[in-house]
Amino acid sequence: MLNITVIGAGYVGLVSAACFARLGFSVTCLDVDQSRVDGLKQGVIPIFEPGLDRLVATQAKAGRLRFSLVDPAFITGADIVFLAVGTPSVKDSDEADLSHIFGAARMIAPHLKSGAVVTTKSTVVAGTNRRIRATIAAERPDLRFSVVSNPEFLREGCAIRDFTEPDRVVVGHHDEAGRAAMETVYASFIDNGTPVIFTSLENAELIKYAANAFLALKISFINEVADLCEAAGGDVENLAQAIGLDPRIGERFLQAGPGFGGSCFPKDTRAFAATGRRLGSPLRLIETVVSVNEARKEQLAARVEKALGDCAGKTIAILGAAFKPDTDDVREAASLVLVPALAKAGARLRIYDPQVGPDAAEELRHASFASSLAEALTGADAAVLLTEWEEFRTLDPRWAREVMAGSLFVDFRNALQPAEMQAAGFTYVGIGRGEVPEVPEVLAAAPAPQRVNGSPVNGHTREGHEAARPPRGAAIEMPERRPVGVAL
Ligand code: UDX
Ligand code: UDX
Repeated sequence: MLNITVIGAGYVGLVSAACFARLGFSVTCLDVDQSRVDGLKQGVIPIFEPGLDRLVATQAKAGRLRFSLVDPAFITGADIVFLAVGTPSVKDSDEADLSHIFGAARMIAPHLKSGAVVTTKSTVVAGTNRRIRATIAAERPDLRFSVVSNPEFLREGCAIRDFTEPDRVVVGHHDEAGRAAMETVYASFIDNGTPVIFTSLENAELIKYAANAFLALKISFINEVADLCEAAGGDVENLAQAIGLDPRIGERFLQAGPGFGGSCFPKDTRAFAATGRRLGSPLRLIETVVSVNEARKEQLAARVEKALGDCAGKTIAILGAAFKPDTDDVREAASLVLVPALAKAGARLRIYDPQVGPDAAEELRHASFASSLAEALTGADAAVLLTEWEEFRTLDPRWAREVMAGSLFVDFRNALQPAEMQAAGFTYVGIGRGEVPEVPEVLAAAPAPQRVNGSPVNGHTREGHEAARPPRGAAIEMPERRPVGVAL
């Protein structure tokens, strides 16, 4: 049985370690953070990721998963060492900070056993794995070892499922030993028909960036089209569904919103663009995605102010601070831009997020934190939905209107139904979204918000932004929405 050591117990490292243990391997997860390791040893999971606590507990109990501070014994004992340390942006630069990766490579080099396979899970720019190989070879010229690039595509919030049922596994390698090790690790995936792509180190590195950049491009595309829909009286939800039914376009990642955030898309688009500049092969589309997305977040406060008027002294409930639902991660979240801007405009802000507290980021200190949705909304002049948590998507509009002092509801995720919000007495402002007719009888006669195979038409599902495909021949009604209310 292979011994696997994972360096880094963050979102990617921890999920990978637990999932490798579930596959039956003996896994040790190392981290430099003493309190993180101490917690993990006692079953305290440092991040919120649905199902991860149970999975870690089960695998630890079965003796397949253990945690430790960096300890040479666990490097020497490993057949495969996975590097899953962060690769954030360098401060004041678009380039990826590879210092943790090379730090880890130098740290493991003296202890690797003959035949060890060093596998990079972290997202790293083209050429990095070859440099990792050179770094280790410089330290251990006589060592027989392989380097593999095995980028991870999991999404936070549904990380375990994404890891266990991936669309594909990408393996970049430079020798047969590295490839053979990955064939063993991913044997069950190969058996169940998951495409496992064996390619060069550089290709694997580029595939990861190209995938993230393309998805980010899709989001920025629909966000700009949403703005045009507002100007032209269209409805981006209907539009996204209609174009998404063309398989050449695809229905996923066409959810308009406040701009993408998280630990990957923002930094990866910046790093991909920086790589293009550095290598003299500019990625002009991706450069534009970066600036479109940044500008979008900066315009959020103006959108609220346009709808609410002068924000000074007004109490605004902010629903959601995480960059997406089902995570406690606020890295590059829209909240980090919106909250300081509204505070500067004089608004009193009350945040409620089921998993994010005041210590999550400096930028959120401008707001007070409520411990429930009810506490956030009660007495508020306006509400701004920033993260489409299930709790917000299923909010009862009439109740919300009753407890709030004001009637403005800004929904930056199109998570709620305009007709229901208006019927409850709200002035509802979505993204790129016209509103259904204001006459209640028409509402009653109109088709219910369309469901296609049980999924709401706007594609919000727990897994995030995934609309189901209608059966062939199904009629899909898209009621005409007359833009009324506040046009932004
Ligand atoms: C991962 C990837 O590795 C990154 O490249 C990808 O783009 C996003 O996902 P992530 O798991 O989000 O990063 O990183 P983070 O949650 O910050 O965790 C990194 C962990 O590595 C931390 O627990 C940190 O303490 C640990 N670490 C960091 C080490 O153990 N050693 C180091 O040298 C540096
Ligand atoms: C992403 C990639 O999807 C994953 O493959 C990669 O490994 C890491 O980066 P993650 O950042 O965890 O995953 O979440 P994702 O669901 O992709 O969302 C990223 C951001 O885009 C979030 O802010 C989300 O709200 C936003 N988004 C996503 C939209 O605004 N619209 C969409 O249609 C989809």
